[in-house]
Amino acid sequence: MAEISVTDDQEVDQSRRRFLTAATVATGVVGTGFAITPFIKSWQPSERARALGAPVEVDLTKVEPGQMVIVSWRKQAIYIVHRTPAMVAALPKNDSNLKDPTSADSDQPAYAKNEMRSIKPDYLVLIGICTHLGCLPKQHFERGDAALGADWPGGFFCPCHGSRFDLAGRVMSGSPASKNLRVPPYEFQGDTLVIGVDPQQKGVA
Ligand code: FES
Repeated sequence: MAEISVTDDQEVDQSRRRFLTAATVATGVVGTGFAITPFIKSWQPSERARALGAPVEVDLTKVEPGQMVIVSWRKQAIYIVHRTPAMVAALPKNDSNLKDPTSADSDQPAYAKNEMRSIKPDYLVLIGICTHLGCLPKQHFERGDAALGADWPGGFFCPCHGSRFDLAGRVMSGSPASKNLRVPPYEFQGDTLVIGVDPQQKGVA
């Protein structure tokens, strides 16, 4: 299983470079702005193999509703959000304030080209790289977040230039980014999420 970092609004790092550093050193980085807890020590596959593109497995039983964890796949931060029923129910209300509500001009596998941008509504899987210039968007899942305004629907905010994304990774109007956050290939094997395997191609993506 992959090494998991659990995040909250204060713990998500603000730079991709710092994330990659944290993912590389793997332990002992609390205090650098990137908290990693808990760790799953058994790396399958090896870190080197993962860097080369091997699939990454994540035990979803460790991800609570409303929580996001981050793993590394192909040296990219992968955001995995266990959406609550309330989060899922609120997504259609965002459509009028989105640049690409149907993901027609965004990048995702065919099975994620839907309003939830996911295979299962309760699990969102995204590449955590802003589609503007590549920063790491921060999670702000609470509706009406004090920092983002009373009409904030919950989602991700990129601290570099202010792009906003909803809880399906769809970019909001007025953002400098033009595309939704990308979705990596993935599939479910029971309670395990496998990132880097395309279920339609039945093989490593
Ligand atoms: S890099 Fe995210 S808004 Fe520019």
